[in-house]
Amino acid sequence: MEKKFKKIAVIASGGDAPGMNNVLRAVTRSAIEHGVEVVGVKGGYYGLIHDEIVPLGARDVSNIINLGGTFLYSARCPEFKEEEGMQTAVATCKKHGIDGIIVCGGDGTFRGATDLSNRGIPTIGIPGTIDNDITATDYTIGFDTAMNTTVQMIDRLRDTCLSHARCNVVEVMGRDAGGIAINTAIACGAVGCMINEMPFDEEALMEKMRKLRAEGKRQFIVVVVEGNPHYSEAFAKRIEEATGIETKFARLAHVVRGGSPTLRDRVTAARMSTRAVEELLAGKSDLVVCECGGKIVTKDINFALITDRMYKNKLREGDLDKYSEEEIAEMKATCDAKHQNFIDLYKIMDEISY
Ligand code: ADP
Ligand code: F6P
Repeated sequence: MEKKFKKIAVIASGGDAPGMNNVLRAVTRSAIEHGVEVVGVKGGYYGLIHDEIVPLGARDVSNIINLGGTFLYSARCPEFKEEEGMQTAVATCKKHGIDGIIVCGGDGTFRGATDLSNRGIPTIGIPGTIDNDITATDYTIGFDTAMNTTVQMIDRLRDTCLSHARCNVVEVMGRDAGGIAINTAIACGAVGCMINEMPFDEEALMEKMRKLRAEGKRQFIVVVVEGNPHYSEAFAKRIEEATGIETKFARLAHVVRGGSPTLRDRVTAARMSTRAVEELLAGKSDLVVCECGGKIVTKDINFALITDRMYKNKLREGDLDKYSEEEIAEMKATCDAKHQNFIDLYKIMDEISY
């Protein structure tokens, strides 16, 4: 049988995430093991437009297994969204004899991946973002490391809050998604958590804090997701005024996006990457590798992107037209499960955090 794939490219794109290096390593090693050459694209899709392509041998991906960031670098590349940029990228692939691409990133990256697939470059996506905000998959690479780093940071804040009988409002990353916030709130015993997925009763929190302080509780942690100025420094001030508890504000920001990947992220990267190589070399394209119920599965990228829009209430006219009732039901079930997970986690936090 003629071997279709001689050379594939691997890319890390969008916001970096711990575990991306593990993807670059695993894709490279797995493809080489299958007798296929590998090149790396530097700086996300930017490198495809600007011809920044480097050959990757097995030893070129040595000693990155424990490193955060991405050794090929990453970037956000607006040019790639334009037809001209896309055509240049396709031309670069042709020039280098790139038969297929595996790209690790978030939903923006997947939109680029499907554009490449539609222009004749088979492309498969691997979800890599600390936000865990790709609805079609239960898990995105980087999420576990970011949560663990956040926990370490909040634990430190707790020490000083306890010494001084203070409260700390901690703003954590996640863009619009509250996954890091709610999980770390539970893990750190936060007294409250503001995320966009759930209604938030500010007055009830103030009342709870006043009561707990009266009962003798010394330290308080309140976790908030980024992106809402009403719940950042101003919120800390309101807590202090309403409860009389001295309250500091901390923004963890990009500090939780770096650092050595956890076991969970390393192993997930290995599982997803080997699957991506297998699918690509079997002639598949336009897929995203997902973890669903602990299993590694693949989904059509557009199906995944539309599921995501459904979850975020951003469906566009015609989005569902080409899908069967069963497929739409599957999308809805995925969205419901994701929402239910937030409800369950929020309830658990409320029940035991006082
Ligand atoms: P993430 O992949 O983490 O969501 P971005 O949204 O920045 O991050 O997307 C990463 C890159 O993917 C962008 O810089 C751009 O090059 C490409 N991209 C994003 N949206 C699109 C789109 N609609 N069409 C084509 N490419 C896109
Ligand atoms: O998507 C990952 C993420 O770190 C979000 O949590 C955050 O909102 C955003 O990227 C920050 O983007 P930038 O790196 O461009 O500041």
